[in-house]
Amino acid sequence: MNSVIPVLDPASPQAEAINSLFLQVLLISAIIFAIVAGLILVAISRGRRKQTLPKQDFGSEKSEIYWLIGPVVIVIWLVAISANLVITLNAMPGADPDGKTDVSDIDLIVTGHQWWWEVKYPKSGVITANEIYIPADKKKKFRVQISSADVIHCFWVPQLGRKIDAIPGRDNYIWLQASEPGSYQGRCSEYCGAQHAWMNFKVYAVTDTEFDQWVASEQLANKQPKLLSPLANSGKQFFFQATCPQCHTIYGTPAEATIGPDLTHFARRKEIGAGVIENTPENLALWLKDPQALKPGCKMPDFKLSDEHLKQLVAYLETLK
Ligand code: CUA
Repeated sequence: MNSVIPVLDPASPQAEAINSLFLQVLLISAIIFAIVAGLILVAISRGRRKQTLPKQDFGSEKSEIYWLIGPVVIVIWLVAISANLVITLNAMPGADPDGKTDVSDIDLIVTGHQWWWEVKYPKSGVITANEIYIPADKKKKFRVQISSADVIHCFWVPQLGRKIDAIPGRDNYIWLQASEPGSYQGRCSEYCGAQHAWMNFKVYAVTDTEFDQWVASEQLANKQPKLLSPLANSGKQFFFQATCPQCHTIYGTPAEATIGPDLTHFARRKEIGAGVIENTPENLALWLKDPQALKPGCKMPDFKLSDEHLKQLVAYLETLK
């Protein structure tokens, strides 16, 4: 569902409103351009043929009136469609008629970090990273709080709606909504340091049932088998001996740090490093071997793991489903 020019392929009522404003402004501009360019071409061609100075016209009341009325009508039209768009994007239905954001009714909190997105569902307690699940429904809007843990980032899913900045010390709110099930590419769109370009995320719009199932499965501690393979078991021991738990959380274990992404259901995620590579065992090994080679500057250091430890860790992390 990722088209070549996502902004021109809106997939939510809000993105449709933005797209419609863009196309109307483009249409007005194109018509004005065609008229002006056309008149110039006519003047050039006539002047060339005659080779004499045309009749000079010093002031015309009629033209002045047309020049006044035309632009005024266009400006009023632009103001009207822009105001309509702003109202559509900011409309707060039902819960708060005064238009103020009721913070207790937040469906999703997305926090920008250098360089990944933390994704929290306060109502269910689900925490994940770089992958956002929402129910696909034209009427259902997800109330989203956008925050930052460090510098200014900007949350943007071109096919679903407006951009909104993630600003340290200040929370912003938007609606997230998708008309059709599908996956929608999101990007950080405010320069935020070395790996700004690799601060991607995906929004998965799924049916209501799928969404409920997803929430239920994410709420549980991971479905790790009771008996790990010897390799995975060594990996688990190594994970907790090494410094991994100082940055990551695995729900239901002593690993509870929140500096890096939550790893509770890591093996179910589709990408590693906020979109840098697909999440496969081979790529995971590449990532663990040297995250700095794949995403220079990221907060995960090169631990210079031995091949043995690498295999063990991959085996363990693959059990986090
Ligand atoms: Cu975060 Cu750019």
